[in-house]
Amino acid sequence: VYTDYFFDEPAYNTHDGGYVPLERMKVPEQRLNVPPLLKPDRETETDIYYTLVAKAGETQLLPGLPTKTWGYNTSLLGKTPVFKKGKHIHITLKNELPELTTFHWHGLNVSGPIVDGGCHAPVYPGETKQIDFTLDQPAATTWLHAHPCPSTAEQVWHGLAAMTIIQDDVEAKLPFPRHYGVDDIPLVLQDRRFHENNQWDYRADYDPDGVQGPTALIDGTVNPYFDVTTQKVRLRILDGANRREWRLHFSDDLTFTQIASDGGILPAPVKLTKLMLTCAERAEIIVDFGNYHNGDVVTLYSDDVPIVHFRIGDYQPDNTVIPDHLVDIPNPEPTPNLPIKKVVMSGMDEEVMLDGKKFDMQRIDAKQKVGDVAIWDITNTNDMTGGMVHPFHMHGCQFLVLSRNGHEPYPNEHGFKDTVGVNPGETVRIKVWFNLPGVYMYHCHIIEHEDGGMMAQIEAFDPEH
Ligand code: C2O
Ligand code: CU
Repeated sequence: VYTDYFFDEPAYNTHDGGYVPLERMKVPEQRLNVPPLLKPDRETETDIYYTLVAKAGETQLLPGLPTKTWGYNTSLLGKTPVFKKGKHIHITLKNELPELTTFHWHGLNVSGPIVDGGCHAPVYPGETKQIDFTLDQPAATTWLHAHPCPSTAEQVWHGLAAMTIIQDDVEAKLPFPRHYGVDDIPLVLQDRRFHENNQWDYRADYDPDGVQGPTALIDGTVNPYFDVTTQKVRLRILDGANRREWRLHFSDDLTFTQIASDGGILPAPVKLTKLMLTCAERAEIIVDFGNYHNGDVVTLYSDDVPIVHFRIGDYQPDNTVIPDHLVDIPNPEPTPNLPIKKVVMSGMDEEVMLDGKKFDMQRIDAKQKVGDVAIWDITNTNDMTGGMVHPFHMHGCQFLVLSRNGHEPYPNEHGFKDTVGVNPGETVRIKVWFNLPGVYMYHCHIIEHEDGGMMAQIEAFDPEH
């Protein structure tokens, strides 16, 4: 049983002076506002059609005035689209916002920068665009967010972030809870500061090391509770914050089981009592409430601040057992004679850089042949004492974590990842391959670091085409 290992990593507990601690909320508990599923416009055996509308609205978050927020097909965050592996997906993108935005599919392996939706794919106010793709990747919890460089951070802060779910036949056979919104619950973890009249003010809170607030906002809900039975519950947790790391644990130090990381189901379940997520990372966990009784409350905390209260209701038998082996993860051999690709994440504040440079959309920083399997070493040159963790994210692929400073990765890092927290003074070695050609960004996912230029791009090229 692996417990506490994230907390024993000293680097994960270092924060520079700018860190804003979460506070306990004094407002009454509210029912968790689980994002509804996005209804397809049309679906056939082989194809599915969705429309996504980025728009401004108002959301009642606190007693008193509603907060001005942005969202996809709703006033805040977004409705959740479900993608089946192999199905042809057609999405109409509409921008009803007063400024340009993009629709980035974080964690999806799609071909090229336009479908990927990074800064190369602006959708102007009033504009409608169409994208089509077919996924060839395993079931996973991924997400959609705005990515218009350099205002990704501000747009995500306004609310442009939605959970997305990929399903496949392998996951469908595993004995996991899968009643969306009942026992399969997305949790988008964010934090905000409320200013006068309950409004967010990105400019007032701006910090080049990442904007934070003292109030936890979970699925766009302040101080949420959620009703469960004594059966197992699956939580799909996303760190959707601009800068905050979440150090999660339950009351009673309840043991839970992680079954998936960013890019899909883990090869084997990992039992934990504590879990750390850095920006953009996801974890699916199964929580067994079988030892609780009607009227009990089990609380999910980050550090010592409660973030979700699970209210236990009726006794319901649950005899499902999580198997010791879940899925097979392909683990291709590195292509012989490829040099190790080195990436350096340096600085804090306005000084953040990738490989000593600031991002330039016109510049291709690296190339890798489609199908080649390369070793990448990602180094965080921040000082061990007081430096920041940089969450390293790649578009267009899911990678495997090989080592941290030459040591085994954490037990819950044996599955596909698209984002990995690189601790101060650490080098994380990963194995990277691209299945589809295109130009893809890689960057720090502290969103203000990304906007501040800690980003580069690689061309995955296919010599046959
Ligand atoms: Cu989640 Cu380049 O993004
Ligand atoms: Cu960073």
